Amino acid sequence: MRSHQTVLLEEAVEALRVKADGIYVDGTFGRGGHSRAILARLSSLGKLIALDRDPLAIAAAMEIADPRLAVFHAQFGALREVVRRAGVTHVDGVLLDLGMSSPQLDQADRGFSFRFDGPLDMRMDTSRGQTAAQWLEQSSEQEIGEVIRRYGEERFAKQIARAIIAARSRGPVDRTRQLAAIVAKAVPTREPHQDPATRTFQAIRIHINQELEELAVMLPQCLEVLDDGGRLVVISFHSLDDRIVKQFMRTHSQPGALPARLPLRAHELPKPHLKLIGKPVFPSESEVAANPRARSAVMRVAERIAA
Ligand SMILES: C[S@@+](CC[C@H](N)C(=O)[O-])C[C@H]1O[C@@H](n2cnc3c(N)ncnc32)[C@H](O)[C@@H]1O
Repeated sequence: MRSHQTVLLEEAVEALRVKADGIYVDGTFGRGGHSRAILARLSSLGKLIALDRDPLAIAAAMEIADPRLAVFHAQFGALREVVRRAGVTHVDGVLLDLGMSSPQLDQADRGFSFRFDGPLDMRMDTSRGQTAAQWLEQSSEQEIGEVIRRYGEERFAKQIARAIIAARSRGPVDRTRQLAAIVAKAVPTREPHQDPATRTFQAIRIHINQELEELAVMLPQCLEVLDDGGRLVVISFHSLDDRIVKQFMRTHSQPGALPARLPLRAHELPKPHLKLIGKPVFPSESEVAANPRARSAVMRVAERIAA
């Protein structure tokens, strides 16, 4: 199995503007590509707090013997709590590299990919929660259709949900290839260069891991834990994540709305919490050629400004 090929490695670490004695959070350790590059820029006084919800990512992080690294098996939605447990009040930067690691995608028994046959699991944190098979077993046709439509932006969500329910009446739907075949039969047309099951797998994965909720809960906590001048760097791989990040950064980089009929001048308005740094960054052509998984990546950067 291939290890994870880190996306936008130099760009992300550069965007964090790592100070040698600073304290940083890598909210998505994965296999530690970004974390190692951050550690390489820290002095002996610097600190890196790394978290991941995947026990295998945490096992990989534990292999790094470095007193500057503090590892937590946690969801980044618990950022504030993790920072507190790490014994600090503020940090100088937070990095999120969203989505899946290659080991997650390439390991058949994780159930994320229809390229291999495996149990339909799809949990990033295998130590808790409902598997995709259990969810498909217990949900109504309407719920399944709604998840596939909303998180997969799939036009044939209804047909797919109906086909899953029909298959379920004959026996459990609990293998990746089995689900992919059900979807392929239910989808009347195919998008070029895309397996018909791509959108359905993405949707179920996002739902099972509550990915959008995690992000929505986590981002406001960055405003509390980031020190003045601290950077928030987020790499997204699909438009649903990126939309949340973009809206969050945009909202908090504008002064508060002018209260109606209150005689306030522009400089008296509530100050924004963030400053946008540069434009969205995309991987270079050579990076995408070397690592096709980078092709949908977009990185956004914002800086905490003094309250
Ligand atoms: C794209 S990989 C990160 C790769 C990493 N930057 C590297 O260079 O090795 C995404 C990682 O984020 C983790 N992850 C996704 N959502 C998470 C969440 N809400 N909380 C904690 N970890 C999460 C996944 O388990 C996965 O290991």
